[in-house]
Amino acid sequence: MDSIEKTDNFVFQTYLRCGKAFAKGEGAFLWDEDGKKYTDFLAGIAVCSLGHCHPKITQAINKQASTLVHVSNLFYTMPQADLASKLCEKSFSDRVFFANSGAEANEAAIKLARRYFQKKGEKNRFKIITMEQSFHGRTMATLTATGQDKIKEGFYPLLDGFSYVPFNDIEALKEEVDDTICAIMLEPVQGEGGIVPADPQYLKAVRQLCDQKGILLIFDEIQCGMGRCGRLFAHQLYDITPDIMTLAKALGNGLPIGAMLATQDAATGFDFGSHASTFGGTPLATAAALEVVNIISNVSFLGDVCAKGEYFKQKLLALKEKHSRVVDVRGEGLLLGLELDKDAAFFVNELMKKGFIINGIQDKVLRFAPPLIIEKQEIDRLIVELDSLL
Ligand SMILES: Cc1ncc(COP(=O)(O)O)c(C=O)c1O
Repeated sequence: MDSIEKTDNFVFQTYLRCGKAFAKGEGAFLWDEDGKKYTDFLAGIAVCSLGHCHPKITQAINKQASTLVHVSNLFYTMPQADLASKLCEKSFSDRVFFANSGAEANEAAIKLARRYFQKKGEKNRFKIITMEQSFHGRTMATLTATGQDKIKEGFYPLLDGFSYVPFNDIEALKEEVDDTICAIMLEPVQGEGGIVPADPQYLKAVRQLCDQKGILLIFDEIQCGMGRCGRLFAHQLYDITPDIMTLAKALGNGLPIGAMLATQDAATGFDFGSHASTFGGTPLATAAALEVVNIISNVSFLGDVCAKGEYFKQKLLALKEKHSRVVDVRGEGLLLGLELDKDAAFFVNELMKKGFIINGIQDKVLRFAPPLIIEKQEIDRLIVELDSLL
C-alpha cells in the first residue's frame, strides 16, 4: 500500500485531501513522492512561514531534542521562560499561556474572558460576540465561537452564550452589546472566511466600545499574526491593542504550539489550577518558537514581507483589471485572496499540475499564504500561470 491508500484506509476520513503525497520540503519548495518539485504558496496554511526546514529552526529543534524535550508544567524550563518574556517584550501583553494548537489557544481565551468576570462576581456576564464568517477552531467552544454554520453541523447543542454580528459593521456590534457581554472576539484579518481585513476605523471603534463598556477585546491572530501581514502582529497595522491575543500556526514554523497572550489585568482571570495543558509550552516547541520570533520580529525581515506583499497584490490587481472573472483582490502583507466569480477548485487543481500549491476557500476565493521568504521571481512565475488560466 502506498501512503495515499494507507491513509485513506486507516486515518479518519475528515480531510478532503488533494491526492498528492509530499516527501520533502526546503525553503519555499516541496517535492512529492515522485520527486516532482512545487512552489509552495500555502506554507501548510500559514504555518511554515520561514519556509520548510529553515536551517536555524532545524538547528534549534535538534539542539533542544538532544537536551530536554518535556518535563511537564510542574517545573520550570528556560526555553518556555525565554519565549514568554520575548512575546511580552514584543507585544502589548504581560503574560502568556502556552497551548498546542490554535483551537486550544482560543479555548483558553474564551475561558479566561468568562472567568475574569465570574471572579469579580459578575456571574451574568459570560456572553461573547464574534463575527459572521469568522473561524476560531474545532473544539466545542471554538466551533461555537466560529461564525459559519457549516462548521457546526451535527454538533448541536452548542455552548451557551455566543452571538454573531456582521464583520466591519460597528452599528450591528453596538446593538448586540449589553451588560451580559464579557468579550468581543475577532480576527483582524479574517482567514478562512475569505481573506477579509478589518476596516481600520471599525477596529478603532471596536476598541473604544470595549473601553466604554468594560468588555475584553480578544484578537485571534492565529492565521494573520506572526509577520504574515507585514507586522509581527496584524493588529499593529491598526494602531490599537487587544486585551487578549491568540497565536499558533506560524509560531512554531511547523512544530505544534499555540499561545494566549494577555494584559496583566485580563490575566487575573486565571488562578493556580484554573487552566492547564500537559504539552503546553514544552522545551522543544518553545525553543523552536523562540527562534521563529527572533527571526520574524526583525525590522528588515518585516519590511521585506511588506514589500513583497505589495508587489504580489499589485500583480493580482493587474489581473483583476484584465480579467472579468476576478471579482476582488484583498488582504495584507503575504496573506492575500483573489475572489473569482466561481470555481476556485478548478484553479487550485490546474495550478497544482503546473507545480504551484495554493488553496481555495469559501468556494470562490484563492488564498495565497506563501512562506514569508518567497522570492519575487516565484511570485512572477505564479502570476504568469494564473494569467493564462484566467
Ligand atoms: C483564525 C484561526 N483561528 C483558529 C484556528 C484553529 O487553529 P488549529 O487548527 O491550530 O486548532 C485557525 C485555523 O485555521 C484559524 O485560521
